[in-house]
Amino acid sequence: MLKVRKKLVIGNWKMNGCLERNASLLAELRLMGSSERVEVVVCPPFPYVSQAKEILAGSAVSVGAQNLSSFKDGAYTGDVSGSMLLDLGCSLVIVGHSERRSVFGETDHVVATKVALALELGLKPILCVGETLAQREAGEAEAVVQAQLDGVLAVVGAALASDVVVAYEPVWAIGTGRTATPDQAEVMHAFIRAHLERSGVAAQKVKILYGGSVTAANAPLLFVKPDIDGALVGGASLVAESFSLICAAAAAI
Ligand code: 13P
Repeated sequence: MLKVRKKLVIGNWKMNGCLERNASLLAELRLMGSSERVEVVVCPPFPYVSQAKEILAGSAVSVGAQNLSSFKDGAYTGDVSGSMLLDLGCSLVIVGHSERRSVFGETDHVVATKVALALELGLKPILCVGETLAQREAGEAEAVVQAQLDGVLAVVGAALASDVVVAYEPVWAIGTGRTATPDQAEVMHAFIRAHLERSGVAAQKVKILYGGSVTAANAPLLFVKPDIDGALVGGASLVAESFSLICAAAAAI
């Protein structure tokens, strides 16, 4: 029998929060019950990783990071290495978020280097892919996503790629309130899985998350789709009630 992929819900706080606000959000998330069916992770900004680890200790919620350096260690002022994240107790790391690509100029090569480094260290990489609105309207969405995947596959190889989590985040849906419809998302997720399969990756093992204006209202509709294995949640992860409801929706499938 095919093993069902456990759902994964990740809160990406982006560059939001302060000690006081985080403390009350984390105290509420601490109360979330554990479930066999869903794994829950929050990714605060670097300075708050330890605060999150401390408050969430012994709870069902684990802690990840939003980025890592493409270098291992050394003279790279301002960067944070994967081994530092491991040292702080992070279990996973988001790589190649569209904001990193568009605002900070991360290329497919840099993203691939980071994914390889995270895998080497035993940090689970959450590889973000997704097209812009112009690319979608030009009919290029699948080609863009395929090229982003291929950039990583070329560096890490098919065998290791099955340990990567893919997050499909259409750029036009991020922070806009304009979610991809469950059908649009499922089409792309199925395409991603088929492409991974064709490339020799054990694709049935790979979790593919959806991200982009996920809310407590639309999450249940997304999670019933066969190739949607969870969500990467931005804005709604900053509110304990909405994030908890999204996690509960994943556990209910
Ligand atoms: P929003 O949920 O705020 O649209 O952000 C999505 C995202 O970028 C998560 O990484």
